[in-house]
Amino acid sequence: MIELAPSILSADFARLAEDSQAALAGGGTLLHVDVMDGHFVPNITIGPCVVKSLRAAVDVPLDCHLMIENPDEYVPAFADSGADWISVHQEACPHLHRSLQLIQHHGCKAGVVINPATPVETLSEVLDSVHHVLVMSVNPGFGGQKFIPNALEKIKKLAAIRTARKLDFRIEVDGGVDRETVGDVVRAGAELLVAGSAVFGGGDPRRDAAELLKTARESVLERV
Ligand code: DX5
Ligand code: ZN
Repeated sequence: MIELAPSILSADFARLAEDSQAALAGGGTLLHVDVMDGHFVPNITIGPCVVKSLRAAVDVPLDCHLMIENPDEYVPAFADSGADWISVHQEACPHLHRSLQLIQHHGCKAGVVINPATPVETLSEVLDSVHHVLVMSVNPGFGGQKFIPNALEKIKKLAAIRTARKLDFRIEVDGGVDRETVGDVVRAGAELLVAGSAVFGGGDPRRDAAELLKTARESVLERV
């Protein structure tokens, strides 16, 4: 099933609840929360206290994407603040399996993320332990970047591995997803679509979420 996860990174942070609710009214069924520490990525965003406020403002799952060093140190705080899904970067976790277990231990759905330069093969030993795999289609750190097409092959590869190994993780894509690129992304096999500027950048998140989702769902019909 195709789902849209509006990324609040491109929302107006002074109107976070209103913008988020508008994107959900347009059909978003998750809210994607980008957490950046200024070390793992060259930008700083938000922490657990914002997650806590958002938790009170919306009733969909909060999909927290941790772009931080030492994520294990912060998993408990995000879980306690109301995160439902927590994903960590393969590149930031020397003990990735342990990090995923920690997320699950705190009652959250565990996801793993790979950067554009990281091969799918690096995940082979954890694919049976994750709820979702997030394929970055930009280098993480900023919204509004151009989609990097090598993500499409990675999504296809993950979908093929999932079938071959009879696994059930979900495939999420993040970065540069808009009405131009969403068709390719969906046809490749992604089902959780993160979109920031395509939803919040045009001044009407409700309308733009609905249009993006409509384009995505039409593309499913074209899947082979
Ligand atoms: C980038 C973040 C993304 C970002 C995507 O590092 O992980 O979630 O919000 O923004 P767009 O959709 O504008 O590329
Ligand atoms: Zn993200």
